[in-house]
This record gives sequence, C-alpha cells and structure tokens, in this order.
Amino acid sequence: MPRPKISIIGTGAVGLATAQWVASKELGDIVLVDIVEGLPQGRALDLLESGPIEGFNLDVKGANDYEDTKNSDIVVITAGLPRKPGMSRDDLISVNSKIVKEAAQNAAKYSTNAILIVVTNPLDAMVYVAAKASNFPKHRVIGMAGILDSARFRTFIAKELDISVEDVQAMVLGGHGDSMVPLPRYSTVSGVPISELLSNDKINALIERTRKGGEEIINLLKTGSTSFAPASAITEMIESILKDKKRILPCAAYCEKEYGVNGFFVGVPVKLGRKGIEEIIELKLTHEEKAAFQKSVEHVKELVAAAEKFL
Ligand code: NAI
Ligand code: 2OP
Repeated sequence: MPRPKISIIGTGAVGLATAQWVASKELGDIVLVDIVEGLPQGRALDLLESGPIEGFNLDVKGANDYEDTKNSDIVVITAGLPRKPGMSRDDLISVNSKIVKEAAQNAAKYSTNAILIVVTNPLDAMVYVAAKASNFPKHRVIGMAGILDSARFRTFIAKELDISVEDVQAMVLGGHGDSMVPLPRYSTVSGVPISELLSNDKINALIERTRKGGEEIINLLKTGSTSFAPASAITEMIESILKDKKRILPCAAYCEKEYGVNGFFVGVPVKLGRKGIEEIIELKLTHEEKAAFQKSVEHVKELVAAAEKFL
C-alpha cells in the first residue's frame, strides 16, 4: 500500500517545522514547494538525511513547481508573507491573496482529490480564497487556527495552575484574530470547568494573553513569526485526517447555516477524518458568547470582502 503523500507549499518557518513533525511521526511522503530556487530541494534533502537517525522511512522531495505534488492526499498552504512587528494580519491581505490563489489553483490541478489545509494569514480570508480558487467541496478545505489558539489557552491555564498541559482541554472559536472567542465554559482540567479552579479576573487575563498569543511572540522575535506551535497544530490535523481518527478539533470550516453563519469560514469544532470535515459540531452558546462570536464573524466578513477583490 503506497504511503500517503503530503505536499507543503511554502518552505519557510511554518512549512519546515510542519515537515519535521510530519516526518518524525512518519505520517507520509513529503513534497516541499517554494518559489525560491534550491530552497525546497536543499531543505528536503537535509530532512531526508535525518531519517536514518530518527528512524523514519519516508520520501522527502523539494520542487519549484507543482508537478511533484501530483496525487497528494493533503496539501498544506503556508506560502506567503508572515506578519512583522506593528503589522496586523489584515495588512497581509493583498499580497497573500494572490499567492494563496495561485497555490490553491495549482494544488487542485495536480491533486483533484486532496484535502487542503490553509495556514497563510489572514487565515479566515485566505481559506476562503483557497476554497474559491480550488473549487473543492467545502469538506475538503480547512483552515488551521483554532487548535493553535486553544493550545495557547491550554498552555497558559496549565502554567497558572502548575499542572500538566495534557490534562487541560480548551476551546477557542471564531476568527483567528484579536476578536477570537476563547470559551472558558468549555475549557476544563480533567473534566473540571476552569471557572471552579481560577478567578474570573485570572481567566480574563489568560483569555487576553491567548488573543494576543501570536503578537506576543512576533514582538519578541522582531523578525520572523511563530512556527513550532502552528506546525504542531497542522500536524495534528494531518494525523487526524490520514488515520481517520475523527478527532473533534477547532478549525476554520465553511459554515452555511451552522452558528448562524451564512457562507464564510470561521473557527468551529469539527470532526476531522479521512474525508476531511465530516461534521461541524454546534455547541450551545450563551447570549454573551453568541455576541462575541458574531463580532468575530463580522471581522471575518470584512477580511473576506477585502480579499475578494483579488479573486
Ligand atoms: P516564511 O516567510 O518563513 O515562509 C513563507 C515561504 O513562502 C517563503 O519561503 C517564501 O519564499 C514562500 N513563498 C512566497 N510566495 C510563494 C509562492 N507564490 N509559492 C510558493 N512559495 C511561496 O513565513 P512563515 O513564518 O512560514 O509563515 C507563513 C504564513 O503562515 C504567513 O502568512 C504567516 O502569517 C502564517 N501563519 C499562520 C498561522 C495560523 O495560525 N494560521 C500561524 C503561523 C503563521
Ligand atoms: C499566530 O497566531 C502569527 O497567526 C500567527 O501565531
């Protein structure tokens, strides 16, 4: 039986870290694509040569065009510019819309049955662009953000309580931006709601830190963006899809009526399996949670309107 094939478009920080996690988990053969000549080829060879030591049996290739991505099971789009300090995700919209459109069209041309995982920012608009450009059905186009945002919330909760991150579950919905909606009611430590373990003020402080999680790191780095945790989140999605694990994970999914959203990608809990998004899980939200979610959706709509000019 042939190994699954995972193509990663964009051999930058996120693309490379993803390739490394995917290889270490032996999830499938990897193709790295970038516009810079020699970069994907060199990085691919370097990663391949770690195989004998790490013990993974995979093929890793680099390319500057899409022919080598032919018949991929999954195509991950990380191509584009990352944010610089002082820059919002929205500032990236014009340049990244064109890059993502081209990447999605090419990915779709060579891998008609692939599942697209979009990572490039501003995420909620770029996943929309990729869906339109690929013309793939809605269950095969997925944006990565909610797992990362939830992982940050989980990290901060665990640190605050001085407990293992493994026992912390958290849920962050909405767009991948400052208006994202961390949900303390659905965040627990081994089943115990965090509201029983932390004061409201403390929870609000952790929510605020989560909302600014990407910015906190970008400001520290001064140049470059986040990569380890985003790549981990992407790999969790790849693993759930390829192994048909049917995990329930927050991802940007095309909502037609779910959560009252009419035709946009927003972060919601989904069941991720071999077919892609197999179900959108509708959580019961309070009045305040609904209002926060709606505000986030309004921001997503503005981003999509800006991106649509480039479609
Ligand atoms: P990077 O600058 O390290 O890498 C981007 C790569 O894309 C570069 O190697 C560049 O040559 C390549 N590229 C540019 N145009 C291309 C094209 N037309 N075709 C193929 N490759 C092309 O950036 P990094 O840090 O890897 O971030 C990538 C994107 O992911 C950024 O937009 C960033 O904001 C976003 N991001 C999103 C996250 C999320 O939660 N959704 C988390 C982290 C990053
Ligand atoms: C992040 O949140 C920058 O969107 C990126 O890490």
